[in-house]
Amino acid sequence: MNPALPAPLADALDALAEGRSGRDLAERAQTISALYRSGAPSSRAIRDEMDALAYALTRMPATYAAVRAALEALAERAPDFAPRTVADIGCGPGTASWAAMDAFHSADDLSLIDGNKALLDLATEMIRRSEQAAATSRTLASLDATPPPSAELVIAAYVLTEMPDAAASKLAERLWDATEGALVLVEPGTPASWVRLMTIRSMLINAGAMVAAPCPHHAPCPIIPSDWCHFSQRLPRSRAHRLAKGGDAPFEDEKFAYLAVVRPSVALEPPRPRVLALPLEDKAAVSLKLCEPSGGLALRRIVKRDKDTYRAVRRAGWGDVVE
Ligand SMILES: C[S@@+](CC[C@H](N)C(=O)[O-])C[C@H]1O[C@@H](n2cnc3c(N)ncnc32)[C@H](O)[C@@H]1O
Repeated sequence: MNPALPAPLADALDALAEGRSGRDLAERAQTISALYRSGAPSSRAIRDEMDALAYALTRMPATYAAVRAALEALAERAPDFAPRTVADIGCGPGTASWAAMDAFHSADDLSLIDGNKALLDLATEMIRRSEQAAATSRTLASLDATPPPSAELVIAAYVLTEMPDAAASKLAERLWDATEGALVLVEPGTPASWVRLMTIRSMLINAGAMVAAPCPHHAPCPIIPSDWCHFSQRLPRSRAHRLAKGGDAPFEDEKFAYLAVVRPSVALEPPRPRVLALPLEDKAAVSLKLCEPSGGLALRRIVKRDKDTYRAVRRAGWGDVVE
């Protein structure tokens, strides 16, 4: 899986940033980031076309990488799943649509919905420029008041985090009703987001959903706070991304939490243990924190002497599944 923005998307962003003041974009990005950190919703943080562009330049690479990783985990578990229709809920600049088209080459009919006109305009403009999708529909509406569009793949990325708990659970319920195949929720990798996703997970299991990822089981989550289940995706920073962010590092790590569930009609491969933290390696062994199909957590130290097992797991990273 390539966590970098697809070339047509990166090109569209570059073309839209061309001729704009880099300093203005960087200042707006800083203001937006400060507003989000203080808990402001997108409607307050992003107010016009330039704000939307600044947001896309600075945040889209990371949110794209996280959604792409979550979809990779779904595709691994459901290798025959080939959705054509995708609903990008709270689409922002269209991040999840691009990740879906990259993860599932069958995906070419996109429904984008968002309450922020500047972001929705930017999303539709970049998809239109790239000519990647056969069909695109857009709805400018509040998710609280408008039924979400139905699709084989429904994705809400970094959206529930902008809502109170009760509204987030209500939306998840409606998204499940709109899901014909798979529903994927991606959120920031914080303890609060994990707790919220686990509440939604229980609700969806009760509604008949099958958990595809990250959990390899349907039992209650075995993690005990103050620990929490989250993942980290490394992504490259392009020159435009570095300029807009005002930093020099050539990469960044996006921490995220996610949940992918499917209808029983979507065939799933047997579950495998998932690595829940950065593997620790020493001269003699690698140690893995695993969530196991039995429903429990395990810390396993696999010694080099155990050649076959060691070979099978030595390249495993945080978030991967192992044999
Ligand atoms: C943090 S942004 C994430 C955008 C995009 N999904 C991504 O991952 O880059 C959250 C998006 O959800 C939208 N949103 C949040 N609450 C909403 C609501 N109640 N109705 C409509 N859109 C909403 C915002 O306008 C914003 O575009």
